Amino acid sequence: MVQTLFPRLAQSTKIKTASLARNGATFRSQLIDWYDQNARALPWRTQPSLYKTVVSEFMLQQTQVKTVLPYFDRWLNDYPDFPALAAASEDQVLKSWEGLGYYSRARNLHKLAQILTEQDDIPTQSRQWLPFPGIGPYAAAAICSIAFDDPSAVVDGNVVRILARLSADETEYKSSTDAAKAYQELANGLLNADRPGDHNQAMMELGATLCHKQNPQCLLCPVSGLCQGRVKGIESTLPRLAKTKFEKKTVNRAWVRRNGKALLYKIPDSASRMSGLHEIPTLESLRIAPPAEPPLIERKRSITKYRITERFFRIEPHQLPSGKIGEQFVWAAPADIAALPFSGPHRKWIAELLNEA
Ligand code: ADE
Repeated sequence: MVQTLFPRLAQSTKIKTASLARNGATFRSQLIDWYDQNARALPWRTQPSLYKTVVSEFMLQQTQVKTVLPYFDRWLNDYPDFPALAAASEDQVLKSWEGLGYYSRARNLHKLAQILTEQDDIPTQSRQWLPFPGIGPYAAAAICSIAFDDPSAVVDGNVVRILARLSADETEYKSSTDAAKAYQELANGLLNADRPGDHNQAMMELGATLCHKQNPQCLLCPVSGLCQGRVKGIESTLPRLAKTKFEKKTVNRAWVRRNGKALLYKIPDSASRMSGLHEIPTLESLRIAPPAEPPLIERKRSITKYRITERFFRIEPHQLPSGKIGEQFVWAAPADIAALPFSGPHRKWIAELLNEA
């Protein structure tokens, strides 16, 4: 019976879904009762709307709730609905997003607002949302289940962790994307069809507040009685994901001042990522070799699998290539810098460099 309910899953991953499937109804009711008692009062949950759901889901991709909260409130103030967002300029939208990172999300949300504002009928099923900009299976399921009660189960890192522990699945997955695919069927089978949006948010909530990567709070967990991982005492080791291989990279940048202004690089519109944002230019973009003198400051950061050392060298204006530098380079006075959108930590680095002699 279970084999026919979850055949691909059982075959491909040896996930033992039998007791979970048998106890599906218990799982659903324990989870939803816990959520009703313990859900955090988040601003997109009080008086929910499609707009609040969409904005929150875009902001919450790769980003924690506590980081999103101040952005969400400001966003709703600046752009109260889809038409207001659609009418804003892309520069404005990027500026409002600044600091949240992964700027393609802001550009896609802006495009999506323009598309939805033009449509007479907004689709309500997750598969109909997949062609929209910035929408993957997770966002489509989250938005349609929460806003339209569409019975689509979300599977992200949090949900994989919960399900791997519940089913004591010791399979090593190559990536979190592979693991999410393997668990989609089990997640669908466990979904609460009466309250799919609340069920999905309850899974997110359980992952975020109790079923932590380290030190899961099993004593407080509403479904610990169904957790095979706990029975075996292996819950903290699950899910098993192959170790990410990190790559080291060094980026050399030029800090150039002229008449009180600083030289900045505006990422061109043709760039696939972060177009319109400003950065401190790389030596490479200015065709300048790294100087013999040590950098003014050195900072480390991580982006996906890269561990990057960013080095900032003082470059004098006469060291710039002769002739006109490209139109992507702009001279900005410190007073104007506040109004420009920056990528990543560049605004912070500029403040640090302005403090250097
Ligand atoms: N993460 C992604 N979507 C969420 C939501 N609706 N509530 C809490 N955390 C989330």
